[in-house]
Amino acid sequence: MSLTVLITGANGLIGVPLTKFLVSKGYVVRTLSRNPTNKNAAVKEFGWDIENGSIDERSVEGVDAIIHLAGENIGAKPWTNKRKQTIISSRTKSLELLARAISTAKNARVKTFISASAVGYYGDREDEILTEQSHPGKGFLAETCVQWEHSADLLAASGLRVVKLRTGVVLAKEGGALPKIAFPIKLGFGAVLGSGKQWMPWVHIHDAVHAYAHALTNEEMQGVYNLSSPHPVTNKTFTETLAAIHRKKIWLPHIPELALRIALGEMKAIVLSSNRTDSSELQASGFEFKFHFLPEALHDLYG
Ligand SMILES: NC(=O)c1ccc[n+]([C@@H]2O[C@H](COP(=O)([O-])OP(=O)(O)OC[C@H]3O[C@@H](n4cnc5c(N)ncnc54)[C@H](OP(=O)(O)O)[C@@H]3O)[C@@H](O)[C@H]2O)c1
Repeated sequence: MSLTVLITGANGLIGVPLTKFLVSKGYVVRTLSRNPTNKNAAVKEFGWDIENGSIDERSVEGVDAIIHLAGENIGAKPWTNKRKQTIISSRTKSLELLARAISTAKNARVKTFISASAVGYYGDREDEILTEQSHPGKGFLAETCVQWEHSADLLAASGLRVVKLRTGVVLAKEGGALPKIAFPIKLGFGAVLGSGKQWMPWVHIHDAVHAYAHALTNEEMQGVYNLSSPHPVTNKTFTETLAAIHRKKIWLPHIPELALRIALGEMKAIVLSSNRTDSSELQASGFEFKFHFLPEALHDLYG
């Protein structure tokens, strides 16, 4: 019998191709959205309202596994106090709602819970090699990830197999960070950010989707795994490689860290934090990356 999987945040950058992939593999896929439209005939979409604490409990009935991707976009708007609260609660309150639905819904049989987390967990760590055992860092992104993962742990405490994928910068043409970084480069105005020495743990969207699917099917997996390519690069290398793919030169000087601090405030952490993450544990679980090196990943995306 095919497994039934519920995906939250299924309309996002990772969720859309992941839904498509799981449907193509014969899974019965359901989704939870703030605005269910049921436009996709291949999946049944249910509604929830995280702020008001309501969820359509039918969404978890007969579900074997949940993949939790939902969360307010971190980089879209300035981090006001209210927005910071939404960034955290959209991840943690949503998890609590799911936990409640699992415990009260009729015929709930969820055994597996895969949650997104982020490499932001580690904060800004220069050249330190970051494994799943490294301690959490400082700052808002780290605090968000700590709370997010802690909420997922509550489900582990109730007996579910919980996997948390500390995801790096997902590279896709459709959205996320890549088009924003590529835009000035394509216009010939690309520049390295800050010292350019900060490590960027990137992952091609193909590998991100397959890693979530791998965590779903690999029953041995439990706990935290870094999800980023085996070969992270510095911001300078990333910028220069992307420019070369677009046959452009980086001729502008580095954008000074001070200017980024002034322009972005606390959000500077998104572009200036250094995360040299190690994905050996994910590989040891049997996952094989298709894209190990940045040039091949970018060539694949841009043709
Ligand atoms: N993309 C990356 O580079 C990256 C890196 C590390 C970690 N992650 C994490 O992985 C997860 C999926 O990433 P993604 O890039 O696919 O995200 P995304 O494109 O921003 O989509 C996230 C989805 O979450 C739902 N959502 C947005 N705001 C929400 C809110 N306030 N309350 C509840 N739901 C909300 C939306 O679905 P509905 O509109 O249908 O409700 C949206 O489609 C996110 O939690 C993200 O933080 C992503």
